[in-house]
Amino acid sequence: MYTQSFNVPDTPGLRSVPLAPSTESAESQARFDNKIDADGKIEPQDWMPEAYRKTLVRQISQHAHSEIVGMLPEGNWISRAPSLKRKTILIAKVQDEGGHGLYLYSAAETLGTSRDQMLEGLHSGKAKYSSIFNYPTLNWADLGVVGWLVDGAAIMNQIPLCRCSYGPYARAMIRVCKEESFHQRQGYEALLVMMKGTVEQKAMVQDAVNRWWWKCLAMFGPPDADSPHSAQAMRWGIKRISNDDLRQKFVDATVPQAKVLGVTLPDPDLKWNEERQHHDYGQIDWDEFWSTVNGNGPCNKERLATRVKAHNDGQWVRDAALAYSRKRQTQAIKEAA
Ligand code: 3HC
Repeated sequence: MYTQSFNVPDTPGLRSVPLAPSTESAESQARFDNKIDADGKIEPQDWMPEAYRKTLVRQISQHAHSEIVGMLPEGNWISRAPSLKRKTILIAKVQDEGGHGLYLYSAAETLGTSRDQMLEGLHSGKAKYSSIFNYPTLNWADLGVVGWLVDGAAIMNQIPLCRCSYGPYARAMIRVCKEESFHQRQGYEALLVMMKGTVEQKAMVQDAVNRWWWKCLAMFGPPDADSPHSAQAMRWGIKRISNDDLRQKFVDATVPQAKVLGVTLPDPDLKWNEERQHHDYGQIDWDEFWSTVNGNGPCNKERLATRVKAHNDGQWVRDAALAYSRKRQTQAIKEAA
């Protein structure tokens, strides 16, 4: 459905935005600018403007937090999956999300920010993570819809990041997207099975689609006109496609999938626009989005409390690993003496 072959433009967009020149080093700045203009990769050892570094740390750490917090709404269904097959798939999926978080924290660490600093940001509520994970998964149909729509939206956003200008982020995203593609397909397949079931099962799927649709559209971030970071991030080749364009691609891709599934997307304004060659869609509730982003969604407090508790409960593992590493170091010094 969404694959690595999803095309993105060859050149970063919004050319009119300047490269935010730095006063740090004109020569280094020129080398950086040339590389960005040639669509090359910036690597950790390369000089980069502080604003570029800061933007990457912000985006990659938010992304990592989203993967880790994203394990929670699905993880609590592992014990209630309806069959052994579904349980196995769900365990693999939740584990994949944990792995994605780890690749991304590692990518952000190459920019000089420690994992502890990033986790401190998450646990204190200062750092953001995706709005979508602050909504509850009420029943099994929600798990299918999270795979189909939430992971579907995530892939749409993340495939262009495989060509991001920062090498470690781009390379991490290649594997992440392959796994997300499996996540999306397993969700869609689970829903196809439910839609062949009883009247009640079909109603559950429709109800879940009704509750998740608008929240998935908001996941792409504020409209381009209200997105403070987009223009500069696109100029730097970090973002390749704008929030609104990705949202539109997602709507266009999802409409035929909904038809095959036999569900109605809950938007009376959703219709094909011959002139634009895209679907028109209705108004997203941005007040609700910002309220959720700012900590007042239905599950924000619960999600953070669960994360903080898991981190604190794991302290003994970190202590034990450190003690073991110190013991080995002491032994090595003794042997060398
Ligand atoms: N949820 C929470 N905050 C959001 C958001 C969302 N859905 N969309 C935007 N925001 C925040 C931004 O982080 C920014 O806040 P900040 O200034 O405090 O950092 C503010 O709203 C303004 O938005 P911008 O559009 O200007 O910000 P960006 O240019 O960073 O674009 C983004 C936002 C499109 C989410 C971009 O950061 C991005 O592409 N990130 C990488 C992908 C990612 O993080 N996806 C999250 C989902 S991961 C996932 O779904 C896991 C999977 O397993 C399902």
